[in-house]
Amino acid sequence: MVKVILKANSDKGLINRNIYGHFSEHLGRCIYEGLWVGEESPIPNTEGIRNDVLGALQKLNIPVLRWPGGCFADEYHWKDGVGPKSQRARMINTHWGGVEENNHFGTHEFMRLCELLGAEPYISGNLGSGTVQEMQEWVEYITFDGESPMANWRKQNGREEPWKLKYFGVGNENWGCGGNMRPEYYADEYRRYATYVRNYSGNQVYKIACGPNDSNYEWMEVLMREAARFMDGISLHYYTIPTGVWEDKGNATGFGEAEWFTTLKKTLFMDELLVKHSEIMDKYDPEGRVGIIVDEWGTWYNVEPGTNPGFLYQQNTMRDAVLAAVNLNIFNQHNKRVQMANLAQIVNVLQSLVLTEGDKMLLTPTYHVFDMYQVHMDAQRLDLSYESPGYTFGDETIPQLSLSASRNKDGVIHVTACNLSHTDELEVVCQLEAGQAASVSGQVLHHTDFGAFNTFEQPEEVKPAAWEGLVLENNTLRFVLPPASVGVVAVNG
Ligand code: AHR
Repeated sequence: MVKVILKANSDKGLINRNIYGHFSEHLGRCIYEGLWVGEESPIPNTEGIRNDVLGALQKLNIPVLRWPGGCFADEYHWKDGVGPKSQRARMINTHWGGVEENNHFGTHEFMRLCELLGAEPYISGNLGSGTVQEMQEWVEYITFDGESPMANWRKQNGREEPWKLKYFGVGNENWGCGGNMRPEYYADEYRRYATYVRNYSGNQVYKIACGPNDSNYEWMEVLMREAARFMDGISLHYYTIPTGVWEDKGNATGFGEAEWFTTLKKTLFMDELLVKHSEIMDKYDPEGRVGIIVDEWGTWYNVEPGTNPGFLYQQNTMRDAVLAAVNLNIFNQHNKRVQMANLAQIVNVLQSLVLTEGDKMLLTPTYHVFDMYQVHMDAQRLDLSYESPGYTFGDETIPQLSLSASRNKDGVIHVTACNLSHTDELEVVCQLEAGQAASVSGQVLHHTDFGAFNTFEQPEEVKPAAWEGLVLENNTLRFVLPPASVGVVAVNG
Protein backbone atom coordinates (compact mmCIF):
# COMPACT_ATOMS: atom_id res chain seq x y z
CA MET A 1 0.00 0.00 0.00
CA VAL A 2 1.19 3.51 -0.75
CA LYS A 3 -0.04 6.69 0.90
CA VAL A 4 -0.37 9.78 -1.25
CA ILE A 5 -1.13 13.35 -0.24
CA LEU A 6 -2.80 15.35 -2.97
CA LYS A 7 -3.04 19.08 -2.32
CA ALA A 8 -6.35 19.74 -4.01
CA ASN A 9 -6.01 23.54 -3.91
CA SER A 10 -2.38 23.72 -5.01
CA ASP A 11 -1.27 25.19 -8.31
CA LYS A 12 1.90 23.86 -9.91
CA GLY A 13 1.21 25.63 -13.21
CA LEU A 14 -0.59 24.82 -16.42
CA ILE A 15 -0.03 21.52 -18.22
CA ASN A 16 0.40 22.66 -21.81
CA ARG A 17 -2.06 20.73 -23.97
CA ASN A 18 0.71 20.35 -26.55
CA ILE A 19 2.36 17.74 -24.31
CA TYR A 20 -0.27 15.45 -25.85
CA GLY A 21 0.99 16.13 -29.38
CA HIS A 22 1.92 13.80 -32.23
CA PHE A 23 4.30 13.38 -35.13
CA SER A 24 3.70 12.31 -38.74
CA GLU A 25 6.58 11.74 -41.15
CA HIS A 26 6.89 10.68 -44.77
CA LEU A 27 8.14 7.35 -43.52
CA GLY A 28 6.84 3.88 -44.33
CA ARG A 29 3.04 3.80 -44.20
CA CYS A 30 2.50 6.77 -41.92
CA ILE A 31 1.41 9.40 -44.44
CA TYR A 32 0.63 7.21 -47.46
CA GLU A 33 -1.88 4.46 -46.53
CA GLY A 34 -2.01 5.51 -42.86
CA LEU A 35 -3.38 9.03 -43.16
CA TRP A 36 -3.65 9.69 -46.87
CA VAL A 37 -5.24 7.36 -49.41
CA GLY A 38 -6.10 9.95 -52.07
CA GLU A 39 -9.48 11.11 -53.31
CA GLU A 40 -9.82 8.20 -55.77
CA SER A 41 -9.30 5.48 -53.17
CA PRO A 42 -12.06 2.92 -52.48
CA ILE A 43 -11.26 3.50 -48.80
CA PRO A 44 -13.76 6.10 -47.61
CA ASN A 45 -11.99 9.44 -47.32
CA THR A 46 -12.41 13.16 -46.90
CA GLU A 47 -10.44 14.96 -49.57
CA GLY A 48 -7.99 12.06 -49.62
CA ILE A 49 -7.66 11.63 -45.84
CA ARG A 50 -9.00 8.26 -44.69
CA ASN A 51 -12.17 8.60 -42.62
CA ASP A 52 -11.63 5.75 -40.18
CA VAL A 53 -8.24 7.04 -39.02
CA LEU A 54 -9.46 10.63 -39.03
CA GLY A 55 -12.47 9.74 -36.88
CA ALA A 56 -10.32 7.86 -34.36
CA LEU A 57 -7.82 10.70 -34.11
CA GLN A 58 -10.52 13.36 -33.82
CA LYS A 59 -11.68 11.68 -30.60
CA LEU A 60 -8.27 12.36 -29.03
CA ASN A 61 -8.47 16.14 -29.56
CA ILE A 62 -4.89 16.12 -30.77
CA PRO A 63 -3.48 19.55 -29.94
CA VAL A 64 -0.53 19.69 -32.34
CA LEU A 65 0.82 17.60 -35.23
CA ARG A 66 4.43 17.70 -36.44
CA TRP A 67 5.28 17.15 -40.13
CA PRO A 68 6.97 16.30 -42.59
CA GLY A 69 9.83 14.76 -40.56
CA GLY A 70 12.06 13.67 -38.96
CA CYS A 71 15.02 12.98 -41.15
CA PHE A 72 12.71 13.41 -44.14
CA ALA A 73 12.33 17.11 -43.28
CA ASP A 74 15.95 17.91 -44.09
CA GLU A 75 15.57 16.36 -47.54
CA TYR A 76 12.13 17.80 -48.25
CA HIS A 77 11.69 20.59 -50.75
CA TRP A 78 8.23 21.94 -50.13
CA LYS A 79 7.75 23.37 -53.62
CA ASP A 80 7.66 19.78 -54.93
CA GLY A 81 4.49 19.24 -52.92
CA VAL A 82 2.16 22.04 -54.06
CA GLY A 83 0.17 22.62 -57.24
CA PRO A 84 -1.73 20.11 -59.39
CA LYS A 85 -0.94 16.61 -58.17
CA SER A 86 -0.31 15.29 -61.67
CA GLN A 87 2.52 17.79 -62.03
CA ARG A 88 4.15 17.24 -58.65
CA ALA A 89 7.71 15.96 -58.63
CA ARG A 90 8.16 12.23 -58.18
CA MET A 91 11.25 11.31 -56.23
CA ILE A 92 12.81 8.64 -54.08
CA ASN A 93 12.49 8.75 -50.33
CA THR A 94 16.17 7.98 -49.92
CA HIS A 95 16.18 8.02 -46.15
CA TRP A 96 13.23 5.73 -45.57
CA GLY A 97 13.09 2.54 -47.61
CA GLY A 98 14.05 3.97 -51.03
CA VAL A 99 10.42 4.04 -52.14
CA GLU A 100 8.74 6.47 -54.50
CA GLU A 101 7.47 9.73 -53.00
CA ASN A 102 4.90 11.26 -55.34
CA ASN A 103 4.41 14.39 -53.24
CA HIS A 104 0.62 14.03 -53.31
CA PHE A 105 0.55 14.87 -49.63
CA GLY A 106 2.06 18.33 -49.36
CA THR A 107 1.47 21.63 -47.59
CA HIS A 108 -2.21 22.05 -48.54
CA GLU A 109 -3.05 18.48 -47.59
CA PHE A 110 -1.22 18.72 -44.27
CA MET A 111 -2.89 21.99 -43.35
CA ARG A 112 -6.27 20.48 -44.25
CA LEU A 113 -5.56 17.46 -42.07
CA CYS A 114 -4.76 19.77 -39.16
CA GLU A 115 -7.99 21.70 -39.75
CA LEU A 116 -9.99 18.47 -39.72
CA LEU A 117 -8.24 17.34 -36.52
CA GLY A 118 -8.50 20.74 -34.86
CA ALA A 119 -4.73 20.49 -34.30
CA GLU A 120 -2.07 23.21 -34.52
CA PRO A 121 0.35 22.48 -37.36
CA TYR A 122 4.03 22.17 -36.45
CA ILE A 123 6.20 22.24 -39.57
CA SER A 124 9.86 21.21 -39.57
CA GLY A 125 11.85 23.20 -42.11
CA ASN A 126 14.79 21.99 -44.15
CA LEU A 127 18.06 23.41 -42.87
CA GLY A 128 20.23 20.40 -43.75
CA SER A 129 19.87 20.48 -47.54
CA GLY A 130 17.57 23.42 -48.21
CA THR A 131 18.31 27.11 -48.61
CA VAL A 132 17.49 30.04 -46.39
CA GLN A 133 15.36 31.42 -49.22
CA GLU A 134 13.39 28.17 -49.48
CA MET A 135 12.61 28.23 -45.77
CA GLN A 136 11.67 31.92 -45.84
CA GLU A 137 9.38 31.36 -48.83
CA TRP A 138 7.59 28.44 -47.20
CA VAL A 139 6.53 30.58 -44.28
CA GLU A 140 5.56 33.37 -46.69
CA TYR A 141 3.54 30.92 -48.81
CA ILE A 142 1.62 29.68 -45.80
CA THR A 143 1.06 32.86 -43.82
CA PHE A 144 1.31 36.01 -45.96
CA ASP A 145 -1.95 37.82 -46.51
CA GLY A 146 -1.19 40.17 -49.38
CA GLU A 147 0.46 40.53 -52.74
CA SER A 148 3.72 38.59 -53.03
CA PRO A 149 5.09 35.86 -55.29
CA MET A 150 4.50 33.14 -52.71
CA ALA A 151 1.09 34.36 -51.54
CA ASN A 152 -0.02 34.66 -55.17
CA TRP A 153 1.19 31.14 -55.87
CA ARG A 154 -0.77 29.84 -52.89
CA LYS A 155 -3.89 31.52 -54.23
CA GLN A 156 -3.32 30.04 -57.69
CA ASN A 157 -3.10 26.67 -55.97
CA GLY A 158 -6.56 27.12 -54.53
CA ARG A 159 -6.06 28.67 -51.11
CA GLU A 160 -7.07 32.33 -50.97
CA GLU A 161 -6.71 32.95 -47.24
CA PRO A 162 -3.39 32.41 -45.52
CA TRP A 163 -3.21 29.81 -42.79
CA LYS A 164 -2.04 30.43 -39.26
CA LEU A 165 1.22 28.64 -38.54
CA LYS A 166 2.53 28.87 -35.01
CA TYR A 167 5.15 26.16 -34.64
CA PHE A 168 8.14 26.00 -36.96
CA GLY A 169 11.22 23.82 -36.47
CA VAL A 170 14.45 25.17 -37.95
CA GLY A 171 15.96 21.81 -38.90
CA ASN A 172 15.76 18.35 -37.37
CA GLU A 173 18.50 16.22 -35.82
CA ASN A 174 21.16 18.44 -37.36
CA TRP A 175 23.70 16.57 -35.22
CA GLY A 176 22.85 13.49 -37.33
CA CYS A 177 20.65 12.97 -40.40
CA GLY A 178 20.12 16.74 -40.66
CA GLY A 179 23.70 17.46 -41.70
CA ASN A 180 26.03 15.89 -39.11
CA MET A 181 26.85 19.33 -37.75
CA ARG A 182 28.81 20.36 -34.71
CA PRO A 183 26.76 22.33 -32.17
CA GLU A 184 28.77 25.52 -32.79
CA TYR A 185 28.15 25.28 -36.54
CA TYR A 186 24.45 24.50 -36.14
CA ALA A 187 24.00 27.34 -33.65
CA ASP A 188 25.27 29.78 -36.28
CA GLU A 189 23.16 28.19 -39.01
CA TYR A 190 20.13 28.29 -36.74
CA ARG A 191 20.63 32.00 -36.14
CA ARG A 192 20.90 32.67 -39.87
CA TYR A 193 17.90 30.59 -40.98
CA ALA A 194 15.71 31.67 -38.08
CA THR A 195 16.26 35.33 -38.99
CA TYR A 196 14.25 34.81 -42.18
CA VAL A 197 11.43 32.85 -40.58
CA ARG A 198 9.28 35.98 -40.56
CA ASN A 199 6.08 36.95 -38.85
CA TYR A 200 3.76 37.87 -41.73
CA SER A 201 0.30 39.39 -41.47
CA GLY A 202 -0.02 39.10 -37.70
CA ASN A 203 1.09 35.46 -37.63
CA GLN A 204 3.53 34.87 -34.76
CA VAL A 205 5.94 32.00 -35.27
CA TYR A 206 7.20 30.06 -32.25
CA LYS A 207 10.67 29.06 -33.47
CA ILE A 208 12.04 25.71 -32.40
CA ALA A 209 15.77 25.00 -32.60
CA CYS A 210 17.14 21.51 -33.03
CA GLY A 211 18.14 20.36 -29.59
CA PRO A 212 20.09 17.38 -28.34
CA ASN A 213 19.73 13.68 -28.74
CA ASP A 214 19.14 12.18 -25.27
CA SER A 215 22.12 12.99 -23.01
CA ASN A 216 24.14 15.17 -25.36
CA TYR A 217 24.42 17.91 -22.73
CA GLU A 218 27.16 19.66 -24.66
CA TRP A 219 24.74 20.29 -27.54
CA MET A 220 22.24 21.87 -25.15
CA GLU A 221 24.96 23.99 -23.53
CA VAL A 222 26.26 25.39 -26.84
CA LEU A 223 22.83 26.03 -28.30
CA MET A 224 21.59 27.82 -25.21
CA ARG A 225 24.77 29.84 -24.91
CA GLU A 226 24.93 30.89 -28.56
CA ALA A 227 21.34 31.05 -29.71
CA ALA A 228 18.83 31.05 -26.84
CA ARG A 229 17.71 34.58 -27.54
CA PHE A 230 16.72 33.69 -31.10
CA MET A 231 14.51 30.74 -30.19
CA ASP A 232 11.24 30.06 -28.37
CA GLY A 233 11.74 26.33 -27.94
CA ILE A 234 14.45 23.71 -28.27
CA SER A 235 13.80 20.10 -29.12
CA LEU A 236 14.86 16.95 -27.29
CA HIS A 237 14.75 13.46 -28.78
CA TYR A 238 14.80 10.33 -26.70
CA TYR A 239 13.71 6.88 -27.88
CA THR A 240 13.32 3.90 -25.55
CA ILE A 241 15.20 0.95 -27.07
CA PRO A 242 14.87 -2.11 -24.80
CA THR A 243 18.32 -3.56 -25.46
CA GLY A 244 20.00 -0.21 -26.02
CA VAL A 245 21.64 -1.87 -29.03
CA TRP A 246 20.78 -0.35 -32.38
CA GLU A 247 21.38 -3.54 -34.41
CA ASP A 248 19.00 -5.66 -32.31
CA LYS A 249 16.63 -3.44 -30.37
CA GLY A 250 14.37 -6.21 -29.06
CA ASN A 251 10.96 -7.23 -30.37
CA ALA A 252 7.69 -5.41 -29.92
CA THR A 253 5.86 -8.61 -28.92
CA GLY A 254 6.75 -11.93 -27.35
CA PHE A 255 9.03 -10.38 -24.75
CA GLY A 256 9.67 -11.71 -21.27
CA GLU A 257 9.81 -10.31 -17.75
CA ALA A 258 13.39 -9.08 -18.10
CA GLU A 259 12.56 -7.07 -21.23
CA TRP A 260 9.46 -5.64 -19.55
CA PHE A 261 11.54 -4.40 -16.63
CA THR A 262 14.47 -3.09 -18.69
CA THR A 263 12.22 -1.20 -21.08
CA LEU A 264 10.48 0.63 -18.25
CA LYS A 265 13.78 1.30 -16.50
CA LYS A 266 15.15 2.82 -19.69
CA THR A 267 12.08 4.95 -20.24
CA LEU A 268 12.35 6.44 -16.75
CA PHE A 269 15.62 8.00 -17.95
CA MET A 270 13.38 10.65 -19.54
CA ASP A 271 13.01 12.20 -16.10
CA GLU A 272 16.77 12.49 -15.57
CA LEU A 273 17.16 13.98 -19.05
CA LEU A 274 14.58 16.65 -18.35
CA VAL A 275 16.14 17.49 -14.99
CA LYS A 276 19.65 17.81 -16.41
CA HIS A 277 18.74 19.64 -19.61
CA SER A 278 16.56 22.03 -17.58
CA GLU A 279 19.51 22.77 -15.30
CA ILE A 280 21.59 23.81 -18.32
CA MET A 281 18.74 25.90 -19.70
CA ASP A 282 18.26 27.61 -16.33
CA LYS A 283 21.78 29.04 -16.59
CA TYR A 284 21.01 30.88 -19.82
CA ASP A 285 17.28 31.36 -19.44
CA PRO A 286 16.49 31.68 -15.73
CA GLU A 287 12.97 33.00 -16.44
CA GLY A 288 12.09 29.77 -18.23
CA ARG A 289 11.07 31.51 -21.47
CA VAL A 290 12.46 28.81 -23.80
CA GLY A 291 10.40 25.63 -23.82
CA ILE A 292 11.63 22.07 -24.10
CA ILE A 293 9.90 20.48 -27.07
CA VAL A 294 10.23 16.69 -26.79
CA ASP A 295 9.26 16.32 -30.41
CA GLU A 296 10.29 12.67 -30.77
CA TRP A 297 9.80 10.08 -28.06
CA GLY A 298 8.49 6.55 -27.66
CA THR A 299 9.58 2.96 -28.16
CA TRP A 300 11.75 1.76 -31.01
CA TYR A 301 11.85 -2.02 -31.56
CA ASN A 302 12.93 -4.35 -34.34
CA VAL A 303 10.50 -4.06 -37.25
CA GLU A 304 7.78 -6.69 -37.58
CA PRO A 305 9.11 -9.77 -39.42
CA GLY A 306 8.66 -9.57 -43.17
CA THR A 307 8.18 -5.79 -43.28
CA ASN A 308 10.46 -3.28 -44.99
CA PRO A 309 13.23 -2.42 -42.47
CA GLY A 310 13.05 1.20 -43.65
CA PHE A 311 9.36 1.44 -42.71
CA LEU A 312 9.77 1.07 -38.91
CA TYR A 313 6.48 -0.79 -38.51
CA GLN A 314 6.03 -2.31 -35.05
CA GLN A 315 3.24 -3.77 -32.92
CA ASN A 316 2.15 -2.14 -29.70
CA THR A 317 1.37 -3.93 -26.43
CA MET A 318 0.43 -3.24 -22.81
CA ARG A 319 4.13 -2.48 -22.32
CA ASP A 320 3.81 0.47 -24.70
CA ALA A 321 0.69 1.61 -22.89
CA VAL A 322 2.37 1.66 -19.47
CA LEU A 323 5.46 3.28 -20.96
CA ALA A 324 3.39 6.02 -22.63
CA ALA A 325 1.56 6.69 -19.38
CA VAL A 326 4.83 6.91 -17.43
CA ASN A 327 6.27 9.40 -19.92
CA LEU A 328 3.14 11.54 -19.94
CA ASN A 329 3.25 11.68 -16.14
CA ILE A 330 6.91 12.75 -16.38
CA PHE A 331 6.09 15.49 -18.91
CA ASN A 332 3.27 16.75 -16.67
CA GLN A 333 5.71 16.87 -13.78
CA HIS A 334 8.09 19.01 -15.85
CA ASN A 335 5.32 21.32 -17.02
CA LYS A 336 7.41 24.39 -16.26
CA ARG A 337 9.87 23.65 -19.09
CA VAL A 338 8.15 21.04 -21.23
CA GLN A 339 5.84 22.95 -23.56
CA MET A 340 5.27 20.25 -26.14
CA ALA A 341 5.88 16.56 -26.76
CA ASN A 342 5.19 14.57 -29.93
CA LEU A 343 4.97 10.80 -29.81
CA ALA A 344 6.75 9.09 -32.71
CA GLN A 345 4.66 8.38 -34.73
CA ILE A 346 0.94 8.74 -35.18
CA VAL A 347 0.08 5.86 -37.59
CA ASN A 348 1.96 2.70 -38.66
CA VAL A 349 5.42 3.86 -37.56
CA LEU A 350 7.16 3.13 -34.23
CA GLN A 351 4.88 3.63 -31.20
CA SER A 352 1.68 4.37 -33.07
CA LEU A 353 -1.80 5.28 -31.96
CA VAL A 354 -3.36 3.50 -34.89
CA LEU A 355 -2.31 0.66 -37.21
CA THR A 356 -3.81 0.02 -40.63
CA GLU A 357 -3.84 -2.84 -43.09
CA GLY A 358 -5.68 -2.15 -46.35
CA ASP A 359 -9.08 -0.85 -45.35
CA LYS A 360 -8.78 -2.14 -41.77
CA MET A 361 -7.72 -0.10 -38.77
CA LEU A 362 -7.06 -0.84 -35.12
CA LEU A 363 -6.46 1.28 -32.04
CA THR A 364 -3.32 0.39 -30.11
CA PRO A 365 -3.02 0.23 -26.31
CA THR A 366 -1.08 3.51 -26.59
CA TYR A 367 -4.11 5.13 -28.24
CA HIS A 368 -6.19 4.29 -25.18
CA VAL A 369 -3.67 5.91 -22.86
CA PHE A 370 -3.81 9.16 -24.84
CA ASP A 371 -7.58 8.97 -24.69
CA MET A 372 -7.56 8.49 -20.92
CA TYR A 373 -4.95 11.23 -20.35
CA GLN A 374 -6.77 13.92 -22.36
CA VAL A 375 -8.13 15.20 -19.07
CA HIS A 376 -4.78 16.81 -18.22
CA MET A 377 -4.69 19.05 -21.28
CA ASP A 378 -4.58 22.71 -20.20
CA ALA A 379 -5.35 21.72 -16.60
CA GLN A 380 -3.53 23.01 -13.48
CA ARG A 381 -1.03 20.54 -12.16
CA LEU A 382 -1.57 19.63 -8.52
CA ASP A 383 1.01 18.91 -5.87
CA LEU A 384 1.39 15.23 -4.98
CA SER A 385 3.62 13.75 -2.34
CA TYR A 386 4.27 10.05 -1.95
CA GLU A 387 7.06 7.59 -1.71
CA SER A 388 6.67 4.86 -4.26
CA PRO A 389 7.34 1.27 -3.26
CA GLY A 390 10.20 -0.27 -5.18
CA TYR A 391 9.67 -2.69 -8.04
CA THR A 392 12.59 -5.10 -8.01
CA PHE A 393 13.68 -7.45 -10.73
CA GLY A 394 16.95 -9.35 -10.29
CA ASP A 395 19.22 -6.94 -8.47
CA GLU A 396 17.68 -3.76 -9.83
CA THR A 397 14.86 -1.64 -8.43
CA ILE A 398 12.74 1.10 -9.99
CA PRO A 399 9.64 2.86 -8.61
CA GLN A 400 6.48 0.80 -8.86
CA LEU A 401 4.10 3.76 -9.04
CA SER A 402 3.92 6.67 -11.45
CA LEU A 403 1.31 9.37 -10.72
CA SER A 404 0.09 12.71 -11.97
CA ALA A 405 -2.79 14.94 -10.87
CA SER A 406 -4.46 18.04 -12.23
CA ARG A 407 -7.57 20.17 -11.80
CA ASN A 408 -9.49 21.25 -14.90
CA LYS A 409 -11.32 24.52 -15.44
CA ASP A 410 -14.54 23.01 -14.03
CA GLY A 411 -12.78 22.08 -10.81
CA VAL A 412 -12.70 18.34 -11.51
CA ILE A 413 -9.55 16.65 -10.22
CA HIS A 414 -7.99 13.92 -12.33
CA VAL A 415 -5.39 11.45 -11.15
CA THR A 416 -3.55 9.24 -13.63
CA ALA A 417 -1.68 6.28 -12.21
CA CYS A 418 0.45 3.44 -13.54
CA ASN A 419 1.63 0.30 -11.87
CA LEU A 420 4.96 -0.67 -13.41
CA SER A 421 5.16 -4.04 -11.68
CA HIS A 422 4.18 -6.94 -13.89
CA THR A 423 3.49 -9.21 -10.90
CA ASP A 424 2.08 -7.19 -7.98
CA GLU A 425 -1.05 -5.15 -7.64
CA LEU A 426 -0.78 -1.89 -5.73
CA GLU A 427 -3.23 -0.29 -3.34
CA VAL A 428 -3.14 3.51 -3.37
CA VAL A 429 -4.64 5.57 -0.54
CA CYS A 430 -4.82 9.16 -1.59
CA GLN A 431 -5.70 11.82 0.94
CA LEU A 432 -7.19 14.90 -0.70
CA GLU A 433 -5.97 17.85 1.33
CA ALA A 434 -8.48 20.71 1.16
CA GLY A 435 -11.39 20.67 -1.26
CA GLN A 436 -14.49 18.58 -0.73
CA ALA A 437 -14.74 15.51 -2.88
CA ALA A 438 -18.22 14.20 -3.59
CA SER A 439 -18.00 11.48 -6.18
CA VAL A 440 -15.47 9.44 -8.06
CA SER A 441 -15.33 7.49 -11.32
CA GLY A 442 -12.59 6.12 -13.52
CA GLN A 443 -11.24 3.87 -16.21
CA VAL A 444 -8.50 1.28 -16.11
CA LEU A 445 -6.41 -0.26 -18.89
CA HIS A 446 -5.24 -3.73 -17.96
CA HIS A 447 -4.82 -7.21 -19.38
CA THR A 448 -3.89 -10.43 -17.65
CA ASP A 449 -1.06 -10.79 -20.20
CA PHE A 450 1.42 -7.92 -20.04
CA GLY A 451 2.34 -8.63 -23.67
CA ALA A 452 -1.24 -8.40 -24.94
CA PHE A 453 -1.96 -6.41 -28.09
CA ASN A 454 -4.68 -5.72 -30.60
CA THR A 455 -4.77 -7.42 -34.00
CA PHE A 456 -6.91 -6.83 -37.06
CA GLU A 457 -8.71 -10.07 -36.14
CA GLN A 458 -9.13 -9.10 -32.47
CA PRO A 459 -8.97 -5.31 -32.40
CA GLU A 460 -10.48 -5.02 -28.92
CA GLU A 461 -8.26 -7.42 -27.01
CA VAL A 462 -6.82 -4.48 -25.06
CA LYS A 463 -9.17 -1.65 -24.23
CA PRO A 464 -10.06 0.36 -21.13
CA ALA A 465 -12.89 -0.63 -18.83
CA ALA A 466 -14.87 1.20 -16.18
CA TRP A 467 -12.82 1.07 -12.99
CA GLU A 468 -14.93 -0.75 -10.41
CA GLY A 469 -14.05 -0.62 -6.75
CA LEU A 470 -12.94 3.01 -6.48
CA VAL A 471 -13.71 4.25 -2.98
CA LEU A 472 -14.11 7.82 -1.75
CA GLU A 473 -14.62 8.28 2.00
CA ASN A 474 -13.82 11.28 4.20
CA ASN A 475 -11.87 12.94 1.42
CA THR A 476 -9.73 9.86 0.98
CA LEU A 477 -9.60 8.10 -2.35
CA ARG A 478 -8.66 4.43 -2.46
CA PHE A 479 -7.96 2.30 -5.48
CA VAL A 480 -6.11 -0.86 -6.39
CA LEU A 481 -4.00 -0.85 -9.55
CA PRO A 482 -3.72 -4.32 -11.10
CA PRO A 483 -0.22 -5.38 -12.19
CA ALA A 484 1.01 -3.66 -15.37
CA SER A 485 -1.88 -1.25 -15.60
CA VAL A 486 -2.83 2.38 -16.22
CA GLY A 487 -5.76 4.11 -14.57
CA VAL A 488 -7.48 7.48 -14.58
CA VAL A 489 -9.73 8.71 -11.81
CA ALA A 490 -12.04 11.74 -11.88
CA VAL A 491 -12.91 13.28 -8.52
CA ASN A 492 -15.83 15.67 -8.57
CA GLY A 493 -16.19 18.31 -5.89
O1 AHR B 1 11.04 8.85 -36.02
C1 AHR B 1 11.97 8.23 -36.84
C2 AHR B 1 13.27 9.02 -36.99
O2 AHR B 1 13.92 9.09 -35.77
C3 AHR B 1 13.13 10.47 -37.37
O3 AHR B 1 13.00 10.64 -38.74
C4 AHR B 1 14.41 11.06 -36.89
O4 AHR B 1 14.28 12.42 -36.58
C5 AHR B 1 14.77 10.19 -35.71
O5 AHR B 1 16.07 9.74 -35.78
